Amino acid sequence: MSDRPRMILDCDPGVDDAMAIIAAARFADLVGITTVAGNVELEHTTANACRMRELLGLDVEVHAGADGPLVGVQEFAHEVHGATGLGDLVLPDPARGPDSDGAVEWLVEATRAEEGIHLVPVGPLTNVALALRADPGLADRVASVTIMGGSAVGVGNVTAAAEFNVYADPEAADEVFRSGAPLTMMGLNLTHQVRMGSAHGAVCGALGTPVGDAMAQLLEFYTVFHLAEEEVVDGPVHDPCAVLAVTHPELFEFGMRPVHVEVDGAHTRGMTVVDERGPRAEGPANCRVAYRADAEAAIDLVMQAVREA
Ligand code: BDR
Ligand code: CA
Repeated sequence: MSDRPRMILDCDPGVDDAMAIIAAARFADLVGITTVAGNVELEHTTANACRMRELLGLDVEVHAGADGPLVGVQEFAHEVHGATGLGDLVLPDPARGPDSDGAVEWLVEATRAEEGIHLVPVGPLTNVALALRADPGLADRVASVTIMGGSAVGVGNVTAAAEFNVYADPEAADEVFRSGAPLTMMGLNLTHQVRMGSAHGAVCGALGTPVGDAMAQLLEFYTVFHLAEEEVVDGPVHDPCAVLAVTHPELFEFGMRPVHVEVDGAHTRGMTVVDERGPRAEGPANCRVAYRADAEAAIDLVMQAVREA
């Protein structure tokens, strides 16, 4: 067995989810990939996970999960990720489809079969919450639940207060944050420090490889979106940060904090409330929150993953 951390990636590809799969394929020992509706419909996130598996020549199972949140209707992010989730990138239809549509059951079984796996959710937390409902002991069996979601400071990307993955299923996020699992939160406050765009894409494209070409197209789409939205060329590569937090934790500075998910607020539904009051904080510190990234080193690793794919 390799000494790379064993990882399950729970994702909704998704432009930056696709980048996270590339990073996980290179630096982690991938146990499997589970998919959830989020950036786009479940049918597309699952097909995209299968396409990325084929592109990278991975021999891991892909299991489709929840097609909507625990409560309410699904929020999508088509404007960020395109109609089918990978921007303008068109990959061939995969020869191998999903291995099941039972991601929740598979998460329970896989973590029963082997303790100490890192669970890395980079989409809405629906699958993880349902797996914890089915078997709360999962919280004690995983090495970590390393989440891309939320934010340590009051900055959202869907609303003023809420980040997409938490906003898309706040009740699921609330259950996960109260589960007692060893949580790490890679929120917007962190991921906004790690930015890539068309210049990185050009370097990837010059490799002349299928993965280099794919990454170049993903970054080009990302740049066009971020130029229009924020007038910046480089966009935050959120989801690879969660993978790197497991494989290269030395690149990040963390602090333990009590973190709660707001499920009610008229203006704050889906916000992660991080208690920064130190000794006066309410409740136990349930989450390791990431504050600072060595962005240059993180970007170098993403580029290395593309080069060596
Ligand atoms: C998160 O939302 C999605 O659009 C991205 O894939 C990322 O997981 C950032 O808020
Ligand atoms: Ca995502």
